[in-house]
This record gives sequence, structure tokens and C-alpha cells, in this order.
Amino acid sequence: MLHVEALSLDALAREHGTPLFVYSKQWMLDALAAYRRGFEGRDALVCYAMKANSSLGVLRVFAEAGCGFDIVSGGELARVLAAGADPAKVIFSGVGKTRDEMRQALAAGIACFNVESEAELDVLNAVALAQKQRARISIRINPNVDPKTHPYISTGLKGNKFGVAHDRALHAYRHAASLPGIEVVGIDCHIGSQITEASPYLDALERVLDLVETIEQAGIPLHHLDFGGGLGIDYNHDTPPAADVLWKQLLARLDARGFGDRQLIVEPGRSLIGNAGVCVTEVLYTKPGEDKNFCIIDAAMNDLPRPAMYQAFHQIVPLAERSAGTSTTYDVVGPICESGDWIGRDRALNVVEGDLLAVLSAGAYCMSMASNYNSRGRAAEVLVSGDRATLIRRRESVDDQLRAEHFD
Ligand code: LLP
Repeated sequence: MLHVEALSLDALAREHGTPLFVYSKQWMLDALAAYRRGFEGRDALVCYAMKANSSLGVLRVFAEAGCGFDIVSGGELARVLAAGADPAKVIFSGVGKTRDEMRQALAAGIACFNVESEAELDVLNAVALAQKQRARISIRINPNVDPKTHPYISTGLKGNKFGVAHDRALHAYRHAASLPGIEVVGIDCHIGSQITEASPYLDALERVLDLVETIEQAGIPLHHLDFGGGLGIDYNHDTPPAADVLWKQLLARLDARGFGDRQLIVEPGRSLIGNAGVCVTEVLYTKPGEDKNFCIIDAAMNDLPRPAMYQAFHQIVPLAERSAGTSTTYDVVGPICESGDWIGRDRALNVVEGDLLAVLSAGAYCMSMASNYNSRGRAAEVLVSGDRATLIRRRESVDDQLRAEHFD
């Protein structure tokens, strides 16, 4: 029987129905502790990239643990403040911040804007001046290193929309330093997601430090260095470095180059929540096909969009092993009317209708990317701590879905 902490997933699913996301609070805190071990004795801030999972109950855990947050929209700002976050530990990333979002973030008193273009600098300057404020900023640098991950989640290559090109960086910093509504405080980079090797980080670090030298030689001091997020998790026998091991390595380089005294910021998302969560789903039907057998479950691409979007792999396991019967190879698919609605391909499963399955590593980029496609209500979420379960999001009802719409 599969458990999350002290609670059986079977009992939780019977109580709350399926599909159901279940998260372990302890797993989240342990993942955070790994980063903090890596940064021991340093001035460092872990800013949870809340796009990975922005449910209030999840944000609350990290806020209570003293985390900062990386946000990318006004909606995320409102959410994280509602969860009790300290705005002085919030940083704002993203290529397309609107004036309205800038105003809200300035009014809230966030720590830093990670600016992604020179055009954005000018707008932020104007917005800040109009509010009689100065906006603290880092410029996100595109270091042009290959993170060796899926192309949709690579962000630090020349062809990506993110950041300011390495060669333009000094120019952008000079421009920023000349603007009265802008206060330069740091430098930022983020090269991609689900990175499972240390080498792209080490390459990016060297490139960023080269720039720090150049920018400081031009008389612009940088108080903090933000290395983004991106550390991968184990989905399918992946072996990413542990956060503390990776950071010991990166800090050694940083010290060797004489930058060990700077404040460090990181923006991890997936590695703080991905393996803390599972999605429990019921087998609705099994169906033999001409080429394939199908196991049709009640979770779909609107709940678990990663396989359809990135051909991502999530392990799918029965909550309890059957003693009788044999395994059949299935494509595990959802009820949505698209062939792209698959959750796993060619999986050996010994299941019958009504069995419960757990889709593993479903804490990150599942619920936060969930949609109402096919007018499916979004799933419920439970947070487990020891033997206590809290329903942190009730299942979305049809009324919830219809509320914002009308016709005349
Ligand atoms: N910082 C910035 C500026 C980011 O764009 C991201 C993620 C992060 C931090 C956090 O990265 P993480 O530590 O979670 O890798 N939906 C995709 C992942 C998209 C990542 C987008 N940016 C997926 O399901 O794989």
C-alpha cells in the first residue's frame, strides 16, 4: 500500500475522490534543507519559483519556513502575499511584465525585479518615478550555455527569448545605472529546467562572473548574484546532483574567483516540490486495441499536461499490488478527446477497472499548469504532514467553472 508520510493514499482517495494530488510537507522541507545545507555560513536566499506549484497551501509551507519567492505575474504576487510571504524576499522574473504589475510590485515593496530587456528598464524607470520610488533591479543575462534538457525548457541559449545577450550586458547595465528610478543591485541568470548535470551550471557561473568583473570595473557594484533555478529531479532513474553537493561545487568556484562575499539568490521550483507530490487516479476502463491496449484513467492532460507538452515521463504505479492476474502493456490515457491525451506509454500494469494508480513526481508543473479543457474541473489537493491531512484545494465544481461567464 502506497503512503504519503503516515497516511495511506487509498484512504485519502476514498475520502476526497480522484483525481487527487497529495503532497508531503516533510519532503518539501527536506528539499529546502538541502539547499540551506549547501549555503551554510553564506548570505543566501532561496526564492521558491512558485510557478512550479502555486497552491496557497504549498506557498504557506515555504513562507513559514522563511523562504523568499520568485514570481512572474501580478497574480503570483497576489497569491504569495495571500499566503503570508514577506514581500522583502520576493523577486519578480519574466520577459513581459506590464506597467500594472510593476506598480503592484513596487507598492508591495518587493526585493528586486529581474529585468529582461532594455525596453523593460525604461518602462520600469518611468513607473517607479511616477510612484516616487526607485526599483531595485538585476538584469537577467543570457549566458548562451546549453542546459542539455528539453528544448521547450531551455532558456539560456542565444535563440531563446529570455534575458539580455552576454554581449549587450554591459551596455544595459550602464543604461540602468543612468536611470534615476532604477537602483542596480544584482545580476541574474536562469539557463533552463530539469537540468541533471552540474556542468551547464559551472559554465554559466563562469560566464556570469566574467560579466560581474566587467560591470564592476565600469563602476557599477553588484550586491547579489542570482543563479536561477533549474535543478532536475528523478522522474525515471534520472540522477541530478543533490542541491547541497551542486552548491558546494559552485561555491568553491565562486570563492576561487573572489566573489564568495556576495549575497546569493537561487530560484528553484521543481526541485523543492516535484517529488513531494503524487496524483492518485482511478482506472475507469481497460480496452484492448488493434495495436495497443489502453488503460483509461480519470486524470487527463488537463491535470497532468507534461507528457502531452514535453513527452515527459512520470512513473505510474498501482496503490496496491494485485496477487492474482498478470501484467498487460498499456498506454495509460485520459478521457479528453485528443490523441495527445496520454499520461504514460507502454506501461506494464496488472490492473482492473476501479483500481487506483499513483502518477509519481507530480508535485511540480502539474496543478499549476492544469486547465479546464473539456470543461473538466480541476482536481483536489491534499497536504499531508505526519498523520494529518489538510484539503488545501477542494475539487473545482461546475459552478466554479461557470461563475465568470455570461451571455445576454
Ligand atoms: N526562474 C525562472 C526565471 C524560471 O523561468 C524558472 C522556470 C525557474 C526559476 C524555476 O525552474 P525549476 O527550478 O523549476 O526548473 N513546465 C515545465 C518547466 C518550465 C520551467 C519554466 N521556468 C515542465 O513541466 O517541465
